[in-house]
Amino acid sequence: MSNILSETQNQVLTLKINRPEKLNALNRETISELGNTLDEAMNNKDIRVIIITGSGNKAFVAGADISEFASFNNQEGKDLARNGQQELFDLIENSTKPVIAAVNGFALGGGLELAMSCHIRVASDNARMGLPEVSLGVIPGYGGTQRLPQLVGRGKANEMIFTAGMMKADEALSYGLVNYVVPQEELLTKAQEIAYKILPNSPKAIEKAIIAVNAGYQSGTNGFDTEIKEFGNCFGTEDFKEGTSAFLNKTKPNFTGN
Ligand code: COA
Repeated sequence: MSNILSETQNQVLTLKINRPEKLNALNRETISELGNTLDEAMNNKDIRVIIITGSGNKAFVAGADISEFASFNNQEGKDLARNGQQELFDLIENSTKPVIAAVNGFALGGGLELAMSCHIRVASDNARMGLPEVSLGVIPGYGGTQRLPQLVGRGKANEMIFTAGMMKADEALSYGLVNYVVPQEELLTKAQEIAYKILPNSPKAIEKAIIAVNAGYQSGTNGFDTEIKEFGNCFGTEDFKEGTSAFLNKTKPNFTGN
């Protein structure tokens, strides 16, 4: 059985992590399958927005699969973090298409890190989020020590990491860790609603907006300079010609993403 279930509807690809018996914990196979599926989606012109969620109604992802790394040494630990970051978490953050996490329950450790690598997060009211790694004698390794402070501020991130505690959905909303909290049965509809608001806009411009926003969080990169460069690059695109001429002609633009 596949660890990832895919469904495309109206140019929105929904990926469901499918190991409900292990609360969708991310083993190596699942990370690699999700990475490959996302790679394919990046190259598929018919897909414009991606939603990632978990199977079942209990967990988004309850973390990296602890049974896989319990006997690792230092080097294996480093490799696990580096490979995971490159193969999946950085891939999502730098995706040219918007990725929305629909957090449908526990998002712990690698699960919260997965949600945080997405561009937008929506949570169900039963969601519980945290980075419990120090309770296992390890620290977050899939970007959690970097992305959590970016989203909730350093003080709250430190508290969450040091206490290994779980945040309820409403508190996550109040800290900006998620954009919306909705009843579980409305979660996918809410994520789709956001996706459908994105769809009418220029895919090329969205791609460049992602590059510019991300640049502000990369060391050694000046976000303002990247914004100037990508702003300029927009002027050479067909989407720009389409968007501006449609406005001036009082018609709706039909963007091709070129
Ligand atoms: N890695 C591997 N297996 C995991 C897992 C993980 N991160 N999280 C849950 N599972 C497995 C459990 O071992 C159990 O498997 P089993 O039925 O074969 O024993 C199954 O998923 C169900 O989990 P269980 O612990 O019985 O559910 P619960 O409702 O009692 O508790 C949690 C839910 C999320 C609180 C608990 O599973 C948990 O603490 N998970 C680990 C969270 C974590 O530390 N993540 C960070 C990893 S770096």
